[in-house]
Amino acid sequence: MKSVILYDSIGGNTEKVAQRIYDTLKGATHEVHFIKFTSKIDVDFFEYDLIFLGSPVINWLPTKRMMDYVKKKLQFYNDQGKIIPSSPLLSGKYGICFCTYAGTHIGENEALPMTMWLRSFLEHLGYSVLDQWHMVGQFHNETDMNTQGRLGNILGRPNDKDLLDVENRVKGVVGALAGLMAGENS
Ligand SMILES: Cc1cc2nc3c(=O)[nH]c(=O)nc-3n(C[C@H](O)[C@H](O)[C@H](O)COP(=O)(O)O)c2cc1C
Repeated sequence: MKSVILYDSIGGNTEKVAQRIYDTLKGATHEVHFIKFTSKIDVDFFEYDLIFLGSPVINWLPTKRMMDYVKKKLQFYNDQGKIIPSSPLLSGKYGICFCTYAGTHIGENEALPMTMWLRSFLEHLGYSVLDQWHMVGQFHNETDMNTQGRLGNILGRPNDKDLLDVENRVKGVVGALAGLMAGENS
């Protein structure tokens, strides 16, 4: 199984989550690529059987540069005739969308549009999206926003406990996929 973690991160929180996904996946799957978003990346999503796609939540959505890139790729695949009406599911192709978010105003609902946005992209390609992970991440240069919000005091997050949560989720996905793939190949 070939996997990729493609993520954006402005202040480092989402990078911590992405790094833990990578560290957990390494050794558990055949090949893992770890790609931080830059203007120079060129990713062929179809190359991968398992895609982790993540971003910080910025005004309920992914970073603008991540959205621009995803839109560009969608257009590219569309021009190649790979975006098919009804988006039939591709065998053996899976995705997880993840983010970090502060949830200061309306809690986890702030993160849903963002991971749904990324999910829609992967589903257009025909990937089965297994889950959307919303991990709490503090603001880097705010005070009240980190202590007065709906999620309470989020200073220091994502913390060790959050990252252990990520690790356990990845282990769960790897275990479930191993079972699925064994079924597909029998
Ligand atoms: C400009 C800006 C806008 C943000 N908008 C939201 C938002 O709409 N909802 C939310 O829950 N968090 C929001 N946040 C908080 C970030 O999503 C959160 O701190 C995240 O962990 C930052 O990740 P990073 O360190 O990987 O960049 C925003 C942060 C910034 C800087």
